Amino acid sequence: VLVNKENKLPDNWEKIAELLEVKNSFGKFLKIEKETLEKFNELRADLLKEWVDIELDSAYRSFSIQNEFFEKFKEEYGEEYASNYAAPAGYSEHHTWLAIDICIKKENWEIISENHEMIVELWVFDIVHKKMVDYGFIVRYPDGKDSITWYSYEPRHLRYIWDVDVAKEIMEKWLTLEEYLNKAWK
Ligand code: DAL
Ligand code: ZN
Repeated sequence: VLVNKENKLPDNWEKIAELLEVKNSFGKFLKIEKETLEKFNELRADLLKEWVDIELDSAYRSFSIQNEFFEKFKEEYGEEYASNYAAPAGYSEHHTWLAIDICIKKENWEIISENHEMIVELWVFDIVHKKMVDYGFIVRYPDGKDSITWYSYEPRHLRYIWDVDVAKEIMEKWLTLEEYLNKAWK
């Protein structure tokens, strides 16, 4: 499914996926699609072997939660920032249950969850982005692709696309989902 500023979530979407409610290790409740969670857990276990500790920070968001998220960004950082980093309600990938925002647990128990703090964690994200393709995840808003996605780089926003070969191709070529689908449809 392609959800972006021009493509709204399809109306019958929630009937398609098998949905779960889970609690993360900080006690936060999250809703997520079943296979996305399974693959996230496998990725997490694999990354722990490399001393990288990731956790789910956000997964499914309803239209009203997304609206709150968008308004909060606008209040805290202004209109331009909000439109670069948050989708309007109805147009967020987080409505699909297949998109997750991860946070990073550091050795000193510090938790990094804000996108602007994550952008400087180059070593960590290098490992995360390399490993995650094996589990079917892609970076949905790659660096330097703002003119295609209409969002700035979000290293923490991972999208489960299921097909490992496609995930590998997208990440190796640093494509957006828009570019990949555009090519696949031609
Ligand atoms: N941060 C992404 C763009 C969203 O709000 O869906
Ligand atoms: Zn996100």
